[in-house]
Amino acid sequence: MNELKGKVIIITGGTKGIGLAMAKLFAENGAEVIACARTQKEFKESNIHFYKLDVTQEDSCNSLVDSVISKYGKIDGLVANAGITKDSMTYKMSSNDFDYVINTNLKGIFNIVKYVAPMMEKQKAGSIVTISSIVGEYGNIGQANYAASKSGIIGMSKSWAKEFSRKGLQIRVNVIAPGFILTDMLKSIPEDLLHKFENMTMLKRLGKPIEVAKVAEFLLSDDSSYVTGTVVDVNGGMRL
Ligand code: CAA
Repeated sequence: MNELKGKVIIITGGTKGIGLAMAKLFAENGAEVIACARTQKEFKESNIHFYKLDVTQEDSCNSLVDSVISKYGKIDGLVANAGITKDSMTYKMSSNDFDYVINTNLKGIFNIVKYVAPMMEKQKAGSIVTISSIVGEYGNIGQANYAASKSGIIGMSKSWAKEFSRKGLQIRVNVIAPGFILTDMLKSIPEDLLHKFENMTMLKRLGKPIEVAKVAEFLLSDDSSYVTGTVVDVNGGMRL
């Protein structure tokens, strides 16, 4: 088990799917977890704290970070996970659906990291994990907006790995690129395509949220202290 005891970790999109699996895992391992989302959720774990956050709103990100710093005095980790899909063939995709996905998935990560990073710079340490996707690496039919957002996350995160570690600061930034993981997001995919995706993996199955959460746990823990600027694929060997 990777040690997270006493660490203060923010997760955006922390109430559902992969984000929820992370919140529970990190809490089990002793972290104080700030699980953020637009819609309220009650947690029975005393060390998971819900905070309302809309990542598309810079003010919302700024005040979340201020509240966390005034309550806990530090931020050890951030998982920038909040993301949405609005899939359609490009010729049918509305400009609004394009912008909505970019604003949430890409700009939303920029908005939160912009306010978290100065605290980590002050501490001279921290770990940021951004959640991209196999779709950001290889594209997918019907997901031009999503693919653009998820590719952008990779370039942005590598820039941050360089920017925030200047002068030897121990701030690490890594990307996880999940494949097709069993969450609500898959509900919109036609059944035949899901089977096709399953068969494209080496392991012949879709992934579980906990299998992504365990990789994030490693990247947030001190066990990964020499890992930065990487993209970790968690996709069952879908592309080799
Ligand atoms: N790969 C291969 N073929 C695909 C495809 C894909 N990803 N998506 C669509 N197609 C094919 C369809 O099978 C269909 O083929 P035929 O013309 O031979 O029948 C053709 O493209 C057109 O598709 P539809 O008839 O479904 O067109 P539509 O306009 O009704 O719907 C769509 C388009 C909304 C994109 C729908 O096809 C769809 O939902 N596709 C799945 C999109 C997808 O994979 N989303 C992933 C969500 S999970 C996620 O995003 C998390 C992550 O990070 C991986």
